[in-house]
Amino acid sequence: MADPKETPKPPYYAHIVGWGMGVPEKVMTNHDISAFVETTDEWIVARTGIRERRIASDSESTMTLGAKAALGALQMGSLHASLVDLIVCATSTPECIFPSTASLIQSEIGADNAGAFDLSAACSGFVYGLQMAAQSIRSGAIDTALVIGSETMSRVMDWTDRGTCILFGDGAGAVLLQRSEQPGGVLSAILRSEGKNAKHLGIPTFGSQDLDLHHEAINGHKMGKMYMDGQEVFKFATRVLSDGIKRAAADAGIKPSDINLIVPHQANMRIIDAAARQLGFDKSMFYTNLDRYGNTSAASIPLAMVEAEREGRIKKGDYIAFIGFGGGLTWAASIVQWTGAGAVPRKTGPMKQLELLQASAASSFRRIKRQYGSLFNRIRPEQGRIERLKRRMDKVEDGD
Ligand SMILES: CC(C)(COP(=O)(O)OP(=O)(O)OC[C@H]1O[C@@H](n2cnc3c(N)ncnc32)[C@H](O)[C@@H]1OP(=O)(O)O)[C@@H](O)C(=O)NCCC(=O)NCCS
Repeated sequence: MADPKETPKPPYYAHIVGWGMGVPEKVMTNHDISAFVETTDEWIVARTGIRERRIASDSESTMTLGAKAALGALQMGSLHASLVDLIVCATSTPECIFPSTASLIQSEIGADNAGAFDLSAACSGFVYGLQMAAQSIRSGAIDTALVIGSETMSRVMDWTDRGTCILFGDGAGAVLLQRSEQPGGVLSAILRSEGKNAKHLGIPTFGSQDLDLHHEAINGHKMGKMYMDGQEVFKFATRVLSDGIKRAAADAGIKPSDINLIVPHQANMRIIDAAARQLGFDKSMFYTNLDRYGNTSAASIPLAMVEAEREGRIKKGDYIAFIGFGGGLTWAASIVQWTGAGAVPRKTGPMKQLELLQASAASSFRRIKRQYGSLFNRIRPEQGRIERLKRRMDKVEDGD
């Protein structure tokens, strides 16, 4: 947390200084899906561009994938977890209603000095989270934040519904944000909601108004399973995508033609092609990896961003546009000027540095204790048994 005495006056900037991803090993191809619903690889590729997606195993969850992505971001940013002030986890597939998945990730990675909460804005969630965390940093309230998008969509699919189950997959992506007085980082963000169209896309849960006693929504929707009016969502997405990018660029004080790369929500290749046409951009301006992961909801933008950077598509100083859209119906767009990996210079007094060092050491100790605690617990009874055996042998030797 920023020390009020040491906090210089704004303007501050929120820079992305680390990023990471976590995806399950298991691949499910379109051919695999065609074994249990009436569909074909050709139909899915032609209508969506998706060829395969990842599916979480029994030991993987929204927390484990998110924690992997977060640890990758911390490693890339050369920052110890104990120095993180805030963790925002954007997800539509949380481990529980509470505790938040962000809290579970916070414990898993040893971010012992961070606040943590989940953010529900469906596929727009990562850009919403980015803006919330960036605003906290720009206000001077905090120094460092992790923004994570993590999903296990396979667990909320109705695997008998070919209109939805072909589209989604599991995965996580994360960014590490850090405060600096150097201009750059998250330059703009626009967040919007069209709640009047909420009925087109959803996952009913316990609080839902229209659930009957049999845990089925009276409109035929299934408890905890996704439903969607694909055509309505398609129309919404093509309407907001190009408009969102133009508005975010204007707010950042740049022209759309200044943008170096657009990292859109990875829902459907046809939606992205339509946006490219509307903006008059070549398709290559849009980074896509939906052919390999499908739609991973809140994880899709950070996951695509990480792979785009790895492929050399993002360079220091580049203007990157993020655009998300989905349940709500929500959409959100942001322009980021790329900083690169590693901590950015910031003013931190010697006392603050000492505090941070102490926090870091204490957190490392607690992590080691947590990791090896169960081992110690197993060793202790064994030691007792050995002591008892020794005593018995001594008695035998003494001839008792
Ligand atoms: C879901 C989506 C791919 C369906 O494509 P579409 O072109 O709209 O298809 P339609 O729903 O009009 O269906 C056309 C036909 O294909 C059939 N069909 C639907 N899913 C199918 C599948 N997986 N395989 C084969 N046929 C399928 C329909 O039953 C329909 O058949 P009919 O003409 O005999 O009634 C498309 O609407 C879409 O991508 N929408 C956006 C969804 C999205 O991105 N959601 C997430 C936003 S975050």
